[in-house]
Amino acid sequence: MRTGRGRTAVALATVAITIAAAGGVVAATQSSDEAALQPARGSGGGDNVERRVEALLRKMTIDDKLNQIQLLSDGQIKDHPEEASKPVGGVFSLTDPELINKFQKQAMSSKLKIPILFAYDTIHGYRTIFPIPLGAASSFDPNVGATDHKIGARESAAVGLKQIYSPMVDVSHEPRWGRIAEAGGEDPYLNSVFAAARVKAAQGRDYSKPDKVVTSVKHYAAYGQPEGGRDYNTTDMSVRRLHDLYLPPFKAAIDAGSDTAMCSFNSISGSPGCADKALETDLLKKRWGFDGFIESDYTAVAELINHGVAGDGAEAAAAALNAGTDSEMVSQHIRDNAKQLLADGVISERRIDDAVRRILRVKFRAGLFENPYVDVSQAEPAQLKPDAVKAARDAAGRSMVLLKNEGSTLPLKTGEKTAVIGPLGDDGHAMLGPWWGQGREEDAVSVFKGITEQNPDTTFTRACEMKHSEPPDNTPADECANPDFGAAEAAAAGADQVVLAVGESREQSGEAASRSDLDLPGEQEELIRRVKAAAGSKPVAVVLFNGRPLALGSVVDDAPAILEAWFPGVQAGNAVADVVFGKVNPGGKLPVSFPRKVGQVPIYYNHEPTGRPCDVTQKYVSRYRDIKSCDPQYEFGYGLSYSKFEVSNLRLDRTTVSRNGSVRAYVDVKNVSGPTGDEVVQLYIRDPVASLSQPVRRLRGFERVTLEPGKSRTVSFTLDKSDFGFHDNSGRFVVERGQIDVYAGNSSKGELKQSFQVTG
Ligand code: NOJ
Repeated sequence: MRTGRGRTAVALATVAITIAAAGGVVAATQSSDEAALQPARGSGGGDNVERRVEALLRKMTIDDKLNQIQLLSDGQIKDHPEEASKPVGGVFSLTDPELINKFQKQAMSSKLKIPILFAYDTIHGYRTIFPIPLGAASSFDPNVGATDHKIGARESAAVGLKQIYSPMVDVSHEPRWGRIAEAGGEDPYLNSVFAAARVKAAQGRDYSKPDKVVTSVKHYAAYGQPEGGRDYNTTDMSVRRLHDLYLPPFKAAIDAGSDTAMCSFNSISGSPGCADKALETDLLKKRWGFDGFIESDYTAVAELINHGVAGDGAEAAAAALNAGTDSEMVSQHIRDNAKQLLADGVISERRIDDAVRRILRVKFRAGLFENPYVDVSQAEPAQLKPDAVKAARDAAGRSMVLLKNEGSTLPLKTGEKTAVIGPLGDDGHAMLGPWWGQGREEDAVSVFKGITEQNPDTTFTRACEMKHSEPPDNTPADECANPDFGAAEAAAAGADQVVLAVGESREQSGEAASRSDLDLPGEQEELIRRVKAAAGSKPVAVVLFNGRPLALGSVVDDAPAILEAWFPGVQAGNAVADVVFGKVNPGGKLPVSFPRKVGQVPIYYNHEPTGRPCDVTQKYVSRYRDIKSCDPQYEFGYGLSYSKFEVSNLRLDRTTVSRNGSVRAYVDVKNVSGPTGDEVVQLYIRDPVASLSQPVRRLRGFERVTLEPGKSRTVSFTLDKSDFGFHDNSGRFVVERGQIDVYAGNSSKGELKQSFQVTG
């Protein structure tokens, strides 16, 4: 029996909608996804998993056990096929179902017949690629995250994979960091909601089912906060920030049932993620009741030597194992050194048994002992099915954020001569974004293709190149250098309306892709300026493709309309066309703040106050001398629509609450003009006077609602101690007496305000 898996803190903030009706209110409690309320469990292996694990463990020699702890890459097992007959515990990145079956057969013919757990980085889809997770988070709709993982799990499982290295839940205030693309941005609550939804969708109620996989939540922990935004770099932070900002999404994923986790590359206040006993054993395993296994990230055990916490491979193995790392990815220090370490009394057989028990438990729950093989004939037909493609298109449309729309430039009209201009205008490759899984360029609909589909009279002018591979010497690729401005200007002048497709190459985001600049690479800013000048008063819409917040510079003034599309996935062009031509009314919101300049970074909405708050009219206050604003360019939670909404009438059902009680907040939202559209009602809180300075705002609830013209709704949120408490510097959760301010609106700047008192 698994214990300690309660409902997530995020689930506690239940969301209900009351529909305003003539003569009263019709109360209709609505959860955004009913299934999302049930923890996902792995119940393969029947009721006797523990008994079967113990029976098997008793038969295992020390070598058998150490082999289970070993996790190899596809290359390693292909180069050393004999590994499968030992067999190893897991293999990742091998996706050929024939080979998976071949190696599995070898494992199943070995003495103990322990199947291999095959894993893959299915981050935002396997073959059907959905928007990058940062884009999905912009939907403020957990069903978007749930869908990409449901389909990703189905397509992965169809080739014989049974574990995915996802969800990636690293909260980040670092847009320079390329991996900010892989999670839900700067807020722990939003990341938690998406983490739980994704785990439940990928695992289902029982991940032994043929279309389900076990998830691995990563990267534990605080990998999203590398100093200077440089990937793999050191993280140093207070205990309370770790607990309040970076750990909640992991807790949400574990509570949702995630049965594996990956420890991180970075060190946290001097302690590398894969050698941190306090985080791995004391918190994750003991306090949170996690009974699955933790695998190291790629060579992270070996890297303990570089980190300077181990003198050699043997010390690295001992540090990782003793901290709680159960499985070693790629490097082989545990397997190679454990016997000697046991003899020396540095590690214990009990701890090895614990690690192996956890690995076997997951394999039994995954049903691998009963069903080790995949039906090869079904692998291909399971990919890119029509429902998956449709879901990818819907998800991409829901993820787009309208940043600017001067004079209702968007939507454009169909039936007009349209010029698609820019380096990303006919580029399927870039649309898939980083971690494209098994996505293929030829499956991806480019912007030009999607726009032409809905408006045949369309031309395309690339103007400049987006280079897709790093030069051999690893210097940055030359993105959009020497554009053909003349061709771009001529195309703009000859058309009735213009769509400018600009942004980053997909290689500029993701792992090992930190940037020191956040501007549009190359000459794209100038390209936009020239195209706008050539187009005169004709509508010009800039569509951005990128994996991080950008500092948009002059684009903010030059472009009449700006649509943030992120990397939208295989259906990119169709989804862009849906939004650009108004079939889809954009309703996404930013999950990260967009700075004005890179020097403002880190700039995030949930910061703490200072003794001298920013005020641009004052000198001795916390501000930048060369920026005439205290704010980012676009704040967290910001996003426009083709409709106008009014969020009003924030009210609370009480003004005092005991520590264990709850408060209900109600907010009205109305579509006051424009077509049917979506608004995201957002609820924030602040503890204005506490024993430790608390963030100026913290998101604690949101709901994306669709409203027809003139229609309104009342949205309600429940707040309790999981919302208004916080962690102190010993990692203790405290709930203090005093005032809590509640804010509501349609961005993190929402100004509706009410307060309540927490009593003893
Ligand atoms: C390294 C990455 O940090 C991690 O996210 C990924 O799961 C592994 N490589 C395996 O591909």
